[in-house]
Formats: sequence, C-alpha cells, structure tokens
Amino acid sequence: MSGLAILGTGRCLPSRCVTNQELSRMVDTSDEWIAARTGIRQRYLSTPEETLTGQAAQAARLAMERAGVTPDQIGLVVAGTFTPDHASPSLACEVHGELGLDSTTPAFDVNAACTGFLTALETARCFLESSSLEGKIALVIGAEQVSRVLNMEDRSTCVLFGDGAGAALVRLSPDHPYTCRLGCRGSAEILRVGGLASPDHWVRMDGKAVFRFATTTVPQALEDLAAQAGTTLDQVDWVVCHQANGRIIDHVIKKLGADPARFYKNIHRYANTSSASIILALDEMAREGLLQPGQKVACVGFGAGLTWGATLLTW
Ligand code: ACO
Repeated sequence: MSGLAILGTGRCLPSRCVTNQELSRMVDTSDEWIAARTGIRQRYLSTPEETLTGQAAQAARLAMERAGVTPDQIGLVVAGTFTPDHASPSLACEVHGELGLDSTTPAFDVNAACTGFLTALETARCFLESSSLEGKIALVIGAEQVSRVLNMEDRSTCVLFGDGAGAALVRLSPDHPYTCRLGCRGSAEILRVGGLASPDHWVRMDGKAVFRFATTTVPQALEDLAAQAGTTLDQVDWVVCHQANGRIIDHVIKKLGADPARFYKNIHRYANTSSASIILALDEMAREGLLQPGQKVACVGFGAGLTWGATLLTW
C-alpha cells in the first residue's frame, strides 16, 4: 500500500458564533451544565444564507492556495457529510462545480456520520491507486451543517453540535506512511438522524450508550491501529480524536494511560461538528505550527452507524 501525503488544508466556519450563555436564553440549559458535561463553550451555527457548498468550497480554495495546487491537478473529489445542501447532487459535485473542475474528475459523497472525513480519506486513497488517477491529487472534504437536523427545543442534543467545513488535498507518496482501519456495528438504535423515509429528521441519541460505545471503541481502535502500523502509541506525536465530548477524550487518555499533552482538543470552540471535526483540528494545528513534517498523527473517529475509523498519518 502506498503512503499518503497531505499537501495542504483549509477550513471555513459559519459567521455566527453562539456561546453557551446565548444558547441558555433559547433553551433551558446553562454554561455550567454544558461545560462540565462536555467541555463545549461555544459553537458556530450557519445562517440561512450560508450554504454547505459555499463553506466547503471556501475551505477547498484555502487548501489549494496553501498547497499550490491548481484545479487541473485535482483528479477526484470525495466529501464526508450527512448534511449536504441537497440529497442529490452530492456536496462533492456541487463543490466540483464551484471550483470549475474538469469533467473527467469524479465527485461523490460518503456518509459515515462522524467517521466521515476518515472514510472519505481512505476512499480517496483507494481511488488514487487506480491507473486512471495516476499522479493526480484528491480533494477530500469533511463538512457539516448539523444545525439543519437539530431540534432546538431538545436540550439534550441541541447544545452538543456545531457547523463547519474542512478540506485537504492529498496525493500518494511513498515517503508518507499511512495506515487505516474502518469498522461499523450496523445499528441505528442509539444514535440516528431521520431521513427521506422519516417525518422526524432530528438527531436522536441515547447519550450514555454513545459514551460507552466511544470509550470502549476508541482506545481499542488506537491500539489496533498502532499494531497494524508496526508501532506503539508512545511513538505517535499527536492523537486527534473526533471532538464529540471532552470527557470522552479524557476517558480514552485514562484507559490508555497516555500523555494528555499529545491529545488535541478544540471542542470548547466548535462543539461537535461531526465529519468536519478531525479536519478542522488538523487545519487548526497546522496553522498553529503544532504539526511538523515527519510527525506521526493518529486520528480516530466514531459516530452514527455505529461507525468508527482510525488513521495513522505522516505529516
Ligand atoms: N442542560 C441542562 N440539563 C440537561 C441538558 C442540558 N443541555 N441536557 C440534559 N439535561 C438534564 C437531563 O434532563 C437530566 O436531568 P434529570 O436528572 O433531572 O432527569 C440530567 O441533565 C442528566 O441527563 P443525562 O442525559 O443523564 O446526562 P449525562 O450525564 O449522560 O450527559 C451527555 C449527557 C453530555 C450527552 C453525555 O451522555 C454524553 O456526553 N454522551 C456522549 C454522546 C456524545 O458525545 N454525542 C455526540 C454526538 S454523537 C457522535 O458524535 C458520535
């Protein structure tokens, strides 16, 4: 299997930042409750004028600028999302149109809920191995407007999520070892979002069951990932967990007996942005100069499905 290099990243957040205090004027909650249970302090929520396509395309443009990549070099667009602007065409197709990509460049979405970005990344890597995409670069997006499926009267869910879009440009590279593991439990019972066949399109969640799933699956996935890559977690420079809840990340650190300083957290700023959370974190870390060439970065996601995924990247 070839390695995978990340050439550049970008992100775009909605214009409206909503703090816990503001939320507590709309629904019966408080900054203390939200911060203590989750670590969240604020989130960005899209206005009706802000489309997910516009946000994802803006993230992609930034990634292209930083990577020095031109539209003709992009041979594939894969977007991880479950909240595209339209059920069809896909978000990836709409971004393709916004960027004016070539008509020989395929574009499609993958829906793996909060594991969306890692699933899109692995899908892109597999496609880049095919002869028709030899030498090409893939645009991989993780983007959500979770606010579209939030019941703002349900305090047990509406305080947990936010919107955001991130993008990465990637190409095969033998100098950038890459390992990935993906899985799914095949269950809609403890976490789901309505859909075309359902009149109820809100997020429904058994929070305690999701907590248990995450705190058992994530440590195991990280250990198995390291073993598959022929390394140990001690040798990994950074761990980027899907930002669903700061307490989940704390439990994972404790279970692994790991160094908390190597686990990146930004949930206080963005809440849970589902497919976008890992690429938002990677882009933020890159901008802050935390990621250095050659560093090993383990990313781990989990979400409705119940899906999970773990990826070891070489920055
Ligand atoms: N503000 C104030 N009180 C609240 C709120 C709120 N926003 N939401 C619930 N409560 C109340 C409940 O009504 C309940 O009150 P009661 O005891 O009088 O009945 C009390 O707080 C405790 O509610 P629980 O649901 O038991 O709270 P819990 O300690 O389980 O915390 C939470 C809830 C934060 C959702 C937790 O279960 C959790 O973190 N689960 C993980 C799920 C998660 O992170 N999901 C993210 C999306 S899924 C994904 O990304 C994969």
